[in-house]
Amino acid sequence: MTKVAPSLLSADFSKLGSEVERIEKAGADWAHLDVMDGMFVPNITIGPLVIGAIRGMTDLPFDVHLMIEDPVRYADAFAKAGADMLTIHAEASGDTLAALDRIHDLGLKAGITLNPPIPVSALDRYLDKVDLVLIMTVQAGFGGQSFQESGLGKISYVRDYAEAHNPGLEISVDGGINRETGKRCVDAGATVLAAGSSLFKIRDMGSEIALWKGFGRDAGM
Ligand code: DX5
Ligand code: ZN
Repeated sequence: MTKVAPSLLSADFSKLGSEVERIEKAGADWAHLDVMDGMFVPNITIGPLVIGAIRGMTDLPFDVHLMIEDPVRYADAFAKAGADMLTIHAEASGDTLAALDRIHDLGLKAGITLNPPIPVSALDRYLDKVDLVLIMTVQAGFGGQSFQESGLGKISYVRDYAEAHNPGLEISVDGGINRETGKRCVDAGATVLAAGSSLFKIRDMGSEIALWKGFGRDAGM
């Protein structure tokens, strides 16, 4: 089954605790948490303090997407706050391999991602060292942007690698995901759909998530 990771960037931040409970009740598999530092991306969102504050509200795995420079600096803090997975950008400053190692040493799953203009081959050196690859289909920084088609080829590229070398690799996709783009991503090989605005604006989030989870079933994936 396809996993669905609602992005809390589109939640009502004045009641984040109950929003996390809401996505869990709606059938989410993971909670996708977008951390932005105002440097790697222009926007600033949440940090370990907020993630720690909502950790007790749900049993959902916390899929933390770090849009920050030199992410190794904060790996320990996010682990302590209750992150289960930490995904870092290959193009962020700092030693990417050392950051992935540190994330694993902390007992967390490690993910790698990159922005749409960067060729997927920039991930080659990390693919045997991660549990998750996150394909960005919008430029990181803001919710509500349109899906960029270039992500589909990147998903297929990572899927081919996973089939040959790492069948457990999760391939997640983030940005402009809705019912239509999500299905196309799953058909290309995505195993996780991260989505903010499209899920949060739907009144019956549970039915929508159930529909998305069924994507790919016919293909026997
Ligand atoms: C963007 C974030 C996304 C964002 C996606 O930088 O990484 O997770 O919440 O939002 P939508 O689904 O609205 O494109
Ligand atoms: Zn994200």
